[in-house]
Amino acid sequence: MKEHNLVQTLNEALGWELRATNMYAHYAANIRGIHRLQLSPMFTAEATESTMHGDIVRKAIVKLGGIPVTERNTHKIIHTTQYDEMLVHSLETETQAAAVYADIMIEIESVGDQEMYDAIEQIYLAELRSLEELRLLMD
Ligand SMILES: [Fe+2]
Ligand SMILES: [Fe+2]
Repeated sequence: MKEHNLVQTLNEALGWELRATNMYAHYAANIRGIHRLQLSPMFTAEATESTMHGDIVRKAIVKLGGIPVTERNTHKIIHTTQYDEMLVHSLETETQAAAVYADIMIEIESVGDQEMYDAIEQIYLAELRSLEELRLLMD
């Protein structure tokens, strides 16, 4: 039962990572103006990171005997070419991710898989770092 809940929450995280991969790749390509110079590589790095996070989460789901989702979270990805709007949507996405991983951390504790706990904790900390970076960028 614990494992079943954990698989569900991990799948929620996977859906958000698949969405984040799409969103960041979209913003990296579409950003216009002088900020493209710095933010396009940053969005590309975030897209790559989201793919890596998705990979770790997917393997954790399989390890628990679950089936990973193949569809992204359906929360709409807003098209824009404006860097400031992109940052707002990025902050929203990272906030969601951090919240889901915080839930997962609690659920993994009760399953007692230390290796999985460590792997997910690394992702959680990465989401918190992204959140902090975005806050500073928007200051
Ligand atoms: Fe992530
Ligand atoms: Fe992230």
